[in-house]
Amino acid sequence: MKKNICLLPGDGIGPEIIVQGINVLKAVGKKFGHEFLFSEALLGGAAIDATGEPLPAETVRMCREADAVFLAAVGGPKWDNLAPEKRPERGILGIRKELKLFANLRPALLLPELAGACLLRSDIAARGLDLIVVRELTGDVYFGVPRGQEVREGQRVGFNTMLYSEEEVQRIAIVAFETARKRRNKVCSVEKSNVLETSRLWKEVVLETHKQYSDVTLTHMYIDNAAMQLVRDPSQFDVILTGNIFGDILSDEASVITGSLGMLPSASLGASGPGLFEPIHGSAPDIAGQDKANPLATILSAAMLLRLGFNMDTEANAVEKAVRTALADGFRTGDIMENGKTLVGCQEMGEKVLERL
Ligand code: IPM
Ligand code: MG
Repeated sequence: MKKNICLLPGDGIGPEIIVQGINVLKAVGKKFGHEFLFSEALLGGAAIDATGEPLPAETVRMCREADAVFLAAVGGPKWDNLAPEKRPERGILGIRKELKLFANLRPALLLPELAGACLLRSDIAARGLDLIVVRELTGDVYFGVPRGQEVREGQRVGFNTMLYSEEEVQRIAIVAFETARKRRNKVCSVEKSNVLETSRLWKEVVLETHKQYSDVTLTHMYIDNAAMQLVRDPSQFDVILTGNIFGDILSDEASVITGSLGMLPSASLGASGPGLFEPIHGSAPDIAGQDKANPLATILSAAMLLRLGFNMDTEANAVEKAVRTALADGFRTGDIMENGKTLVGCQEMGEKVLERL
């Protein structure tokens, strides 16, 4: 099969880690007889430096033309003092909106190979952690209007609008229920319906949508309780369905307790058109250019790209297996290093995976 992939290396460690992802995709192409064609576009700080904009129109055009978008990471202290609409983050938010990527899938998995890195007490970790956050990505307080800052009665106020339409809730709920059917058949919808009208609507629509998915067990949890349950007993969760801002927070929490933020991939999907695949960690400017970054989240994002973007299950499984074998063979980057293991850099870790593919 012939497929076009648009690369967005971005900033910080982005350019180093994406190379390892590309190498894996090329190897998969060779092994399974696919032709992957790569184009490269600017996003975030790199785009600001070159064009003055975090999301140039040319980048949007190139992403739309591709079959999948492969993003590494954006942002860094260099661009921290820019106005909100000029910041690198706007590049990410903009491309999500432009490509209508309303569904963000963030799996958090405690690999047995990395159990020692888990931040939870060992009796809690022993119950397992294998969940996926299905986060709505193009609505909520992130995009709601009105928003802004102004002076009211002599003092500055800031305001944002938390807003969801029933259609937005319904389509993400469908993604969550469909995802659950391929896993352990459980969805926990997370909101704050004891306080927020937006969440009351969210819960109503999730309940209505659930009528078509009665084979899936649906539970509801307030966000504060969910944040607590996630550290108390993450084994209770299969699919967590939630909105944009709660999902932003919960997905960081879910991933960091596995102890390996540098390991976790994500996919952002729309109803049609190319999906966007990226590691969930940031651009780590403090270690950029030093060959220290962990490329495994990027490589695992390439696996998600193959599975969800191109329907290439066998190929995705092969990549995931190669990653686990490299870990089982004792190779570790600094962020997941343990006693008795072999410390490798970003490039070498990529090579270890390639050898096992
Ligand atoms: C994420 C990030 C982004 C978000 C930022 C970089 C805009 O935190 O992907 O979770 O808030 O969605
Ligand atoms: Mg986040």
